[in-house]
Amino acid sequence: MKAQEISKVAVIGAGTMGPGIAGEFARAGCEVRLVDLSADILQRAMKRLADAHEALIEAKLLSAPKAEAALRRIRPLASLETACDQVQLLVEAVPEDMALKQEMFRRFDLLCPKGAVLASNTSGLSITEIAQATKRPKLVAGMHFWNPPHIMPLVEVVKGKETSDSTAELLLEMCRRMGKRPILVRYDVPGFIGNRLQYAVLREALHLLSEGIASAEDIDAAMTAGPGLRYGLLGPLRTVDLGGLDVYHTISKYLFADLSSDSGPSALMAEFVEEGKLGAKTGGGFYEYPKEELSEIIRQRDRVLLGFLKVLKEQESE
Ligand SMILES: NC(=O)c1ccc[n+]([C@@H]2O[C@H](COP(=O)([O-])OP(=O)(O)OC[C@H]3O[C@@H](n4cnc5c(N)ncnc54)[C@H](O)[C@@H]3O)[C@@H](O)[C@H]2O)c1
Repeated sequence: MKAQEISKVAVIGAGTMGPGIAGEFARAGCEVRLVDLSADILQRAMKRLADAHEALIEAKLLSAPKAEAALRRIRPLASLETACDQVQLLVEAVPEDMALKQEMFRRFDLLCPKGAVLASNTSGLSITEIAQATKRPKLVAGMHFWNPPHIMPLVEVVKGKETSDSTAELLLEMCRRMGKRPILVRYDVPGFIGNRLQYAVLREALHLLSEGIASAEDIDAAMTAGPGLRYGLLGPLRTVDLGGLDVYHTISKYLFADLSSDSGPSALMAEFVEEGKLGAKTGGGFYEYPKEELSEIIRQRDRVLLGFLKVLKEQESE
């Protein structure tokens, strides 16, 4: 099967990620079945996708007729059996729980046609273990979209131990068809690539905060006004190329040994969690989020991200 031939896709789970993922396939011309447990959840999911389309239209990254046509290609469904009928590719986006994912993949394996590819949007669970619930591990892979999926270009295509090269290549090609920036993760290490990089930075940020070296605002600014800007454009390895490997090598000699090597979760973050300070959703975490300001903060974040996305798309087409 070639990516261009994929016309029937099922997305299972219509929470934070599922609707946006369904939108990506639908805008690429696929007929999408979007599945969740109730009509209410599905209705909310379709509304969220319509809002995401509005943001893309406002940023001039999508036209209104194309958005409408894409929404018409999505069929919200509560029946897994109907969703799996004649499907060529299924993407699972149910909660991050290995037992649940294995149970779902066991059912997908029974319900989907023989050659269908089964992908998981897991953030970092083992693809090999998920695939063990099926009789088609060659056709099982990770397809890790980033949040919000209508904006973030990255999709990590992850091979489990038995995933075939042709399955991985098919998913990479499908991502390109959707205008995404896929990467291949050759071995399913926990957290894949994106989260490993993200958590390496987070571990150090939490260490600096708990040691009182700087405030939360200043630690964030050290990234957003410093290396974060370059990383957004170049990534960590090309940044080193441009700075000189000799320079970074010399600094690594004294700095690597001083960086946090904590092997458990941060005690500071655990304290916040125990106190119910979970971040924006509870009104406060490392910062305070008055309710009336929260939606504006998120709108502003998405506006800036959409601006970046526009620049990236322009660069690609040059
Ligand atoms: N939220 C993020 O930022 C993010 C980013 C990337 C990847 N992920 C991964 O994507 C997956 C989904 O995450 P999410 O944040 O969208 O979760 P979520 O909890 O928001 O949504 C999951 C949805 O799955 C539905 N569901 C549960 N059991 C089901 C079943 N048997 N059949 C059909 N639907 C069922 C739930 O009703 C819910 O609507 C997880 O593996 C997560 O790790 C999440």
